[in-house]
Amino acid sequence: MRRFLAIGAAVVTLAGALTAVPVLAAQRHPTVAEQSLRALAARHDLAIGTAIDMEALHDAADPQYRALAASQFSTVTAENVMKWEALEPTRGVYNWGPADELVDFARRNGQRVRGHVLVWQNQLPAWLTQGVNDGTISDARLRDILRDHITAVVKHFKGKIWQWDVVNEAASDPWDSPSSIHLKGFWAQHLGPGYIADAFRWARAADPGALLFYNDYNIEAFGDRGPSDKTWYVYTMARQLRASGVPIDGVGSQGHLGTQYADYDAFQVGEVLDAFSGLGLATAFTEVDVRSQMTAGVRAGDPAEINPRLQASASNYSVLLQACLADRHCLSFTVWGFTDKHSWVPGWFSDPPEGLATLYDESYRPKRAYNVVKADLAYAGPPYVLPRIPQKPRR
Ligand code: XIL
Repeated sequence: MRRFLAIGAAVVTLAGALTAVPVLAAQRHPTVAEQSLRALAARHDLAIGTAIDMEALHDAADPQYRALAASQFSTVTAENVMKWEALEPTRGVYNWGPADELVDFARRNGQRVRGHVLVWQNQLPAWLTQGVNDGTISDARLRDILRDHITAVVKHFKGKIWQWDVVNEAASDPWDSPSSIHLKGFWAQHLGPGYIADAFRWARAADPGALLFYNDYNIEAFGDRGPSDKTWYVYTMARQLRASGVPIDGVGSQGHLGTQYADYDAFQVGEVLDAFSGLGLATAFTEVDVRSQMTAGVRAGDPAEINPRLQASASNYSVLLQACLADRHCLSFTVWGFTDKHSWVPGWFSDPPEGLATLYDESYRPKRAYNVVKADLAYAGPPYVLPRIPQKPRR
């Protein structure tokens, strides 16, 4: 990869310096294989993104991480450093450093930034959750704290964030109790359902230029549109927010899939994207990865167990990407880490162990998933795939 880049740079320099001399290599159109994902996606005005692990980005012994993050992607998301526990570990004391570094990395590489995340029940600082639990922070005070947090964070990054995940994972899952989908977790418990509209309004006031997203998982396809259909629930919620004039601009579908589950096709996924865009909302895939169970055979390197997993993973990436390409309001396709060397999956899904979820293996070799994403970007076009329609923030 680095050799490719070096040759590319040399050709550009030569072509610039010696315009009189015919340089065949400079005139030849680069093959699909030689192009980056971001270059191929640009033709559709689609942003291709990745979550960034700041430790990996800084690791001097891991230069490929940095090089691929910069060259293959046109948008980045902070995997952790914009979460509340990272930004405000001590009450009133903000630690902007790592998040600012990511924003700066993006600026230097011509990338846009997805801000992740303003309101979520996970990765909250202990001072906040403990204060609420022991009663030193009242629910009325909690609402002020949330408003102040959103305002401080959005203002700090004002003008530098393309899309904010304002509210993340607010909806329950069908396996929760009760199984009918409802608002779950810390914020709904303490502030009631109104916190969602409040959060969007506070974020809009702090940066009128950023697109404001609701973001969730397991909303790739509709089910029976009944009370346990999470996708339908989120769709209905978004419709109500829009109808009440709440400044929501988009819905992010995380896209954490697994090859052990039944899969969707691009038409099922497209139906959901079209439903959201029918509400006047943009969409995005925000955290795509497709994990597999690491059976004893996989771990022992048995191709009969590994190959079907890599193929199924690639196919799922393709389904989400094709559906996104086909909807002109689907603005970005972000993967949650691009290499199995730095993926949240093995640490998070350990019983049974899971892995193999990303586009590159642990040695940065592109997997089938990478090439299927690349082929989808390269071989799509009119009449069914047209450039994105930019979304303007609602007033
Ligand atoms: C994950 C990170 O990848 C991990 O490093 C961290 O330990 C836990 O959070 N949905 C989200 C993301 O919205 O913020 C989560 O990220 C993955 C699930």
